[in-house]
Amino acid sequence: MKEKIKIAIFGGSGYGGSELLRILLFHPNVEIALVTANEHVGKAVGEVHKNLYGLTDLKFEKSPEDLFALDADAAFFALPHGQALNLIPQLPEKVKVIDLSGDFRIDDKDVFQKFYKFEHTADELQKKFVYGLTETNREAIKTANYVANPGCFATATLLALAPLVKSGLLTGKVIVDAKTGSSGSGAKAAANTHHPQRMNSFYAYKPFTHQHVPEISQHLKRIGSFENDFVFMTHSLPVSRGIFASCYLETTNILTNEDVKNLYELFYKGSFFVRIVENSPDINWVKATNFCDIAAHSNGKQIAVFSAIDNLVKGAAGQAVQNLNLMFGLDETTGLKLVGTNP
Ligand SMILES: NC(=O)c1ccc[n+]([C@@H]2O[C@H](COP(=O)([O-])OP(=O)(O)OC[C@H]3O[C@@H](n4cnc5c(N)ncnc54)[C@H](OP(=O)(O)O)[C@@H]3O)[C@@H](O)[C@H]2O)c1
Repeated sequence: MKEKIKIAIFGGSGYGGSELLRILLFHPNVEIALVTANEHVGKAVGEVHKNLYGLTDLKFEKSPEDLFALDADAAFFALPHGQALNLIPQLPEKVKVIDLSGDFRIDDKDVFQKFYKFEHTADELQKKFVYGLTETNREAIKTANYVANPGCFATATLLALAPLVKSGLLTGKVIVDAKTGSSGSGAKAAANTHHPQRMNSFYAYKPFTHQHVPEISQHLKRIGSFENDFVFMTHSLPVSRGIFASCYLETTNILTNEDVKNLYELFYKGSFFVRIVENSPDINWVKATNFCDIAAHSNGKQIAVFSAIDNLVKGAAGQAVQNLNLMFGLDETTGLKLVGTNP
């Protein structure tokens, strides 16, 4: 590739935007042409994201009035739910889009309204969106102009369940018990989500009503035949970053530990960012990386699968860049071989 891909980031001053900048500033094939904010307009990127201090001269700008004139090859949207829905339809078709919000992840308008509590107003555009769970949807992403980047819980859960759903061996109920760190709620503190309330505490939230439930079910049905009862519960972990999903499943046949491990290794052969590990994954080892670590165990027909990701990287900005790479014919790992820290 001769010329650099010109990138616009909408919502660069939040946590998702911060991670997009951390990755894209060092991506060999891109240049950042525009980064927008709302309350932080006019501030330097390094002033708002102190980890980037001294590394860029970029400043946060207001979102352009005339989006049709946007001079970019690709645009990332890291805005609160409901914003991209209004902005993306105004872009010219030449701009490839990756949306990190939930606005374009659900195909059924009524289901969308039930879980997001507002009306989906871009039916025609919705049909052009491809779901961006890279490891299960690579070929479609390569030719897509519009990618709906998966939710963080959805990413951890889908990557944990996909091999068994694809195998056709699942029976009975699937139960997923998932936990997230506080950065999942974004950079702006709210009374019930900010860290002082969450550190030293542990609680469940949104029982049966989390917006990732329909997203996960919808995509599992595309991976294999998935008609199983599905229970998905979300919890708040007293950490800043990380998602850990514990998934409990049943199979029609008895599987040994080795059978399950082989199944997962085969499914993710060629997927650099999914690592099959022994015992348990640990949010510490995936922190600040684009890895999803998975461990699968069997007790005859009972299976437990554990997965861990960084919600802001594989669960948001990292996977978004992985998708950008595929959309522009690059190796999906370009700019993304981020290594975590020990400890
Ligand atoms: N956090 C996660 O773990 C995670 C994971 C996956 C997906 N997501 C999704 O990614 C999106 C961004 O999440 P986030 O955690 O980065 O949120 P965030 O930290 O709250 O950042 C939101 C961004 O949107 C801007 N913004 C807020 N209100 C706006 C408005 N009315 N008009 C224009 N811009 C506005 C903010 O600008 P100012 O700061 O200047 O006001 C900021 O740049 C959300 O849809 C979220 O659901 C988040």
